[in-house]
Amino acid sequence: MSAPSSPAPDGVRVRVPAKINLALCVGPPRPDGFHPLATVYQAVSLFDEVHAAWGDPRQMTVTMTGEGAAEVPTDDRNLAVRAARLLAERYGEGQPLGVHLSIHKAIPVAGGLAGGSSNGAAALLACADLWALDVSLDQMLSLAAELGSDVPFALLGGTALGSGRGEQVAPVLGRGSYHWVLGFGQRGLSTPAVYRTYDELRPDAPMPEVPDELMAALRSGDAVRLGRALVNDLQEPALHLQPQLRRTMETGLEYGALGAIVSGSGPTVAFLAKSEASAIDLCVALAADGVVRTARRVTGPVPGARLIG
Ligand code: C5P
Repeated sequence: MSAPSSPAPDGVRVRVPAKINLALCVGPPRPDGFHPLATVYQAVSLFDEVHAAWGDPRQMTVTMTGEGAAEVPTDDRNLAVRAARLLAERYGEGQPLGVHLSIHKAIPVAGGLAGGSSNGAAALLACADLWALDVSLDQMLSLAAELGSDVPFALLGGTALGSGRGEQVAPVLGRGSYHWVLGFGQRGLSTPAVYRTYDELRPDAPMPEVPDELMAALRSGDAVRLGRALVNDLQEPALHLQPQLRRTMETGLEYGALGAIVSGSGPTVAFLAKSEASAIDLCVALAADGVVRTARRVTGPVPGARLIG
């Protein structure tokens, strides 16, 4: 992932996808507080866009627009700002680098779709290109892992196996493309709160393993089989914190979804549809039923963060 040698005068634009977890198996908390995971990520066609332009020396600033933008801090807690700073520190060779990031969000905040993580990944890629730094994909993945558990996957995209605390990613060979409907919740869920609830509900959690059946379903490309194999250990704690999600899931299944699963730590629910036509019907039905704030039709897998201009 080497950057071009001449800096882009008008800045660079990166598009980055949301993720869902087809499997999210969670073990007992580690001494550092994180949980060991065995997960299967899939990147889906719901994208945030990050634009990076030269800023004042050593200033990393961000403005946010779009879905839930007002809820995201724009100071040093912002994952995109942290990504820019980390990249400049490690690979800037003492140059007075600065950037202004403009993020347009379509991925809901605190939705279990790695919206924040995807912004961190996009900022790494955008700044490396803007500043013409020579950073390899491996080096970028390792910075991404420092920023957050889901950040490396946002660079990779596709379908991938995640281990460690989710930051160790390896592509999965799978067949086909799937039609999903994402049902967005009325309110977000805090990831640490969902993990804490998991610990309370499952004090004896075993070490996590992705079920063989899910991997076999992905190899076969059979959506019916995949729909039955979806699994998420964080689903129970998410339903515990937002009991109305149970009705959301049931409604989607009544309207013909092949499977329904809380995405990551929720509250977004991902429904697998038989075809594009059933996804359209499901999307309309969920919205009309009022169980979700909004329903969006997406496909997966799609590539990870990419420069688009
Ligand atoms: O890595 P990231 O910053 O996205 O994690 C957010 C929070 O989610 C962590 O502070 C931790 O509470 C929880 N988490 C966890 N185990 C993981 C990933 C995240 O407990 N594997």
